[in-house]
Formats: sequence, structure tokens, C-alpha cells
Amino acid sequence: MSRIREEGAQLPQLLAQALETSGEFLRTLESRPAACTDAPPLPAGELPQSGCGGAGALDLFRRQIMPHLSASAGPRYWGFVTGGASPAALMGDWLAAVTDQNLSVSGDSIAPAVEQQVLEWLRQMFGLPSSFAGSLTSGATSANLLGLLCGRQFAGRAQGIDVAAEGLVGTRIEVFSACPHASSLKGLAMAGLGRDRVVNVACEPGSERMDVADLERCLTASDSSGKIVVASAGTVTGTDFDDLEAIAGLCRVHGAWLHVDAAFGLFASLLDDRRHWLRGIGAADSITSDAHKWLNVPYDSGIFLTRHLDLLEEVLAVASPYLPTGGPAPHFMNRGVENSRRFRALPLWFALQAYGREGAARLVEENCRQAARLAEWIDASPNYRLLVPCGLNVVVFCPTRHGDIGAWLERLNRAGLVFMTPGNWQGETAVRAAFSNWSTSESDVERVVGLLAEAGRPDW
Ligand SMILES: Cc1ncc(COP(=O)(O)O)c(C=O)c1O
Repeated sequence: MSRIREEGAQLPQLLAQALETSGEFLRTLESRPAACTDAPPLPAGELPQSGCGGAGALDLFRRQIMPHLSASAGPRYWGFVTGGASPAALMGDWLAAVTDQNLSVSGDSIAPAVEQQVLEWLRQMFGLPSSFAGSLTSGATSANLLGLLCGRQFAGRAQGIDVAAEGLVGTRIEVFSACPHASSLKGLAMAGLGRDRVVNVACEPGSERMDVADLERCLTASDSSGKIVVASAGTVTGTDFDDLEAIAGLCRVHGAWLHVDAAFGLFASLLDDRRHWLRGIGAADSITSDAHKWLNVPYDSGIFLTRHLDLLEEVLAVASPYLPTGGPAPHFMNRGVENSRRFRALPLWFALQAYGREGAARLVEENCRQAARLAEWIDASPNYRLLVPCGLNVVVFCPTRHGDIGAWLERLNRAGLVFMTPGNWQGETAVRAAFSNWSTSESDVERVVGLLAEAGRPDW
């Protein structure tokens, strides 16, 4: 009997071992270094020929890989904007692997209906109009790509060209943005629109928020009938929100597609006192968000929503005689980059079933409170400068007694208690601490404050 078949018979025991190792990893999240800054090289070596079986692979994983992983799902990994994995989302993610559904077409499983349900719940949770639908993506980068592809199709149509069918030849498409996330620039490169061809709209002074008067000037000056505006609802450093209501109004007048990158900022709509920052988002043509950030779903969980499903499908539809048409739920293969993909909706479905809107709002609220506490301490310390008032979940600061901020941050991260990443604020090198994990507590903030108190001193 082949090894795979033999192992199939022992699957429950093997999964029990994997469960035990999972428990071991999760139990040590709290105590392992927040980031593994000294992972050893892993030479490719020779391809295993006969293999060592699942239990053997698990043993190698425990010895060669697990000790060198970061605690990115833990409470003090504050780099980038990194979500954790909530208990229910983790359950859903496991079951997505166990059930191994392919979300390409409808008609052989309830799985596409689950994605449809989850997208509808997300729409409701964020208070978006019922005209929004879309698909789950691998992350915000691919959701931004989908927004740009739809915008490109829309802009091409304005010039009488079906870009999906005919290509870009003959089109003239201009993209306007003030402070696009790097992933939107990557999207422009992938979409053939050119990352260096963005018309740079000014920001308001001392902010990453788009200057709407300048956008109006830029749109008016453009003689292209194909226009896309990329707005931000939560920039990654200043957490600034563009005035979406005003921008949507301008887009209407100038016939521009409005894409909003709200990767984590969309979650501000769960907070009574900050919801107004997103006013006007319902008039966007497409929206990006991320569940693997503030919804704390494991990685591979982005959200794309649009009011123009017809355009999305025009760009992404796949036709082949062996692929079915019709069916009770959407064929998600026609709404995303991949034809075949995993049951991405299931961890989201678990998270939303388990904690609901209130659970999601509570997590966002707590993280904002933690960020505010850190910002308050930084602001009061003579050894640090708070560079931006903290309005949401990101604290942007720099040490005042250390010239080489990069080296200082590296040393701080090597200490293992916390992991933060560099940023740039108005041309100045900065440190960013982003809060977006369900397991972060007030005591984590106090422990990091203790370390910062030491690390801020000139003799550290
Ligand atoms: C505003 C914004 N957009 C897009 C992204 C890219 O997200 P992902 O890494 O999920 O592709 C990020 C990531 O931090 C972000 O903050």
C-alpha cells in the first residue's frame, strides 16, 4: 500500500498530533519573541525521495520551522497592520482546509452561497447600500487590483473600447490619487496603467488627506475621457480619511471611477464617533477592505465590493465548454483573479456567526483605546516625539535621543517583546505601532511602555 493510503487510514491520529502542535504554538504565542529577527538560512538541500510520512514531517516542522516563526498572531506584533486569528475564524480556517471546497463554480456545493452570504453580511456590517456585491480576495492588494481593473474597463467604455476584449490600445486613462497605498501602485503596474503615471493630487497641509480642491483642478485640467480616482479611507501611516462625499461628487461630474482603499479604515464605520469619516463611501464604484487585518481572520482574506458587478464579470468572466453556467449561486471564478480557490468565506462566516457586528466593533474599539494610551504616553515622554495625533489604531512616533532611528528600532525589535515597523511621516523617518489584534490587552501596552521608557534614554 502506498504511504499516502496508509496515512489516510491513520488520519485521525495524525490530525490529533497536528492539533497538539497547534496548541503548543498557540500557548507560546504570548512568550515567544514577537518577531523572529534571526531566522537561520534554510538551504534547499535535496528533494526528499521517499519522504518521511506526516508524523515525520510534523517532527521536522517542530524542530526546523516552528522555533523560528514570528508571533505575528500574538498580542505585541504591532508591525504593518497585522490582524490576529480569532478563535472562531481559526476554526473556520481549519475546516476550510478539511473540506477543501473549490469556489470556482456554483452547482456542486453550498460553498459559493456561503461566500454570497458573507459578502452580504459584510455589506450590512459596514452600512453600505444594497447595490454592493463582489468577491473575497487573497488580500487588499488583489482587491485593489480588481478595483483598478473595473475602473479600467469603465474608462475604456467611456472611449468606446472594451479593454477586456480588445486591450488597452487606443485608450487614454488617467489615474488620480493623493496618497495611494503601495499596493495600489502595484495594481497600476499589473493593470497596464503604469505605476509612474498617477496624477499626483496634493494632500492637505500636514496630512495624508486628499486636497479636494486640487483634485477638482486636476480633473478639470484633464482632457481624457477615461478617469479613475483612487481615494483612501485610512492611510497606512497617518490613518487619514479622504473626504469621500466631496470626491464622489467630483467623480460624478467628471465621469471618473471612484475606487476607495479602506483596507482597515472601513472598520472605523463600526465606531459611533468615527463613522462619519466614511461618509460618502456608499457612492464609491468599488471598495477594498481586508478581513485578515481588523476582522482577525487568518491570512488570505481580502474583501472586494463594487456597485458594478456587470463590469467585474466583463473583465473576469471565464468561458470554456467544460465550465458550467447557471446555478443557484454566483460562479466566483468570474469575479476574481483565480479560477480555483479555497473556501475563503468559511473563516469569515465563523467569525461573523460567532461574534457578530458587536464583537467586531468591540475589537476595533479596544485596539483604538490601546493605541490612544500608547500615544498619550509617548506624547508625555521627553524621550519621544508623537508625530501624528492618534485618531485610530496607529501610533506614529520617533525617539528624540537616538539619531539612527532604523538601528534603534532594529535593536528594540531584537529584544523580542514587541515588533514595530518603520514609516515615513512628512519626509521624516518614523516608527509605526499598529493595533489590530484581538488578544492585545492593556497590560501588553504597559509592558511595552516599560521597555520604551528604558529604550528612550540616551544611554540605551
Ligand atoms: C491601506 C492599505 N491598503 C492595502 C494594503 C495591502 O494589504 P494586503 O497586504 O492585505 O494585500 C494595506 C496593508 O497594510 C493597507 O494598509
